[in-house]
Amino acid sequence: MKRIGMLTSGGDCQALNAAMRGVVKSLLYSNEEVEIYGFLEGYKGLIYGNFKMLTGADFAGILTKGGTILGSSRTPFKTIKDPDENGLDKVEAMKQNYYKLRLDVLVILGGNGTHKTANLLREEGLNIITLPKTIDNDLWGTDMTFGFQSAVDIATNCIDCIHTTAASHGRIFIVEVMGHKVGYLTLNAGMAGGADIILIPEIPYDINKVIEAIERRHRNGSQFTIIAVAEGAISKEDAALSKKDYKKKLESSKYPSVSYEIAAQIQERTGQEVRVTVPGHTQRGGSPCPYDRVFASRLGAEAGELILAGEYGFMVGYKNREIVKVPLEDVAGKLKMLEPDASIIKEAKLLGISFGD
Ligand code: F6P
Repeated sequence: MKRIGMLTSGGDCQALNAAMRGVVKSLLYSNEEVEIYGFLEGYKGLIYGNFKMLTGADFAGILTKGGTILGSSRTPFKTIKDPDENGLDKVEAMKQNYYKLRLDVLVILGGNGTHKTANLLREEGLNIITLPKTIDNDLWGTDMTFGFQSAVDIATNCIDCIHTTAASHGRIFIVEVMGHKVGYLTLNAGMAGGADIILIPEIPYDINKVIEAIERRHRNGSQFTIIAVAEGAISKEDAALSKKDYKKKLESSKYPSVSYEIAAQIQERTGQEVRVTVPGHTQRGGSPCPYDRVFASRLGAEAGELILAGEYGFMVGYKNREIVKVPLEDVAGKLKMLEPDASIIKEAKLLGISFGD
């Protein structure tokens, strides 16, 4: 008999349900007797003992369902060791609930912040297995995270739709894609949607180069330009600021996001009309794409196998086309950034895409 706790934490994404279903299906198929405790709204559920008992039936029909049947929330790692407003020691409370339910393992689905807390719980002696979710694909130790390909589809569709109207009106359009720290999503959706300029956090841009790229297009007869901008795109000047000064600048900025600042600069300098479209949280929504359904199911099945073998303390990831187990201590606290000299960026540049550098 295995007693399994499960939770989904952080920003949601597509295929969370598919991954949980994968874990449960593989366990049930093995004929192992299992009790499943689903903690609600991420770590909050584990802290406050808010859970529901689940059976195989709860996981039926959820392969294609977006969101998470357990709910999610952000519980920042930075304050995880601080007592809550009633003085409760949150880490101790999570441990107590784990022991009270006599769990064999806690399966945690999450991104970067989630992995820091997962590793802390491992250090505290709990048996943990994690699965890598995030539309940002920025988790260290895995080449891919589930949610990413579905989000690429949605952001690409947005750029595709913008393309036709931009062409009709001869306008410059900015599509702001999610990703505060890394540009995988913007780069992939930008390339898939045929963006002319792609601005990502890893390559600080020079607004003069962005304008040069627009003017070059105009000289070559194109009346419109599509710019894919990551939420965390940053200019060269801003990148030179200290973290504190940059934060101050953002706080006092009159623009809702970097895209609007770039739009104003382009409009002022070129006299051309610039429009901004922000698909926002639609990028995390809806049904997972087939790739994510398969990928999340595979990760879930492998997690089930680890549970049966009693092997804990790992994230189930994907490296060099193989599913691998990565020690949690290696994953926690590290971000997988796009390298500015990555081959995909070189190829994008060969296609004539400008990164404003
Ligand atoms: O981490 C996933 C993500 O969707 C990022 O791409 C985005 O910057 C952030 O979450 C948005 O967070 P929230 O949903 O809390 O606004």
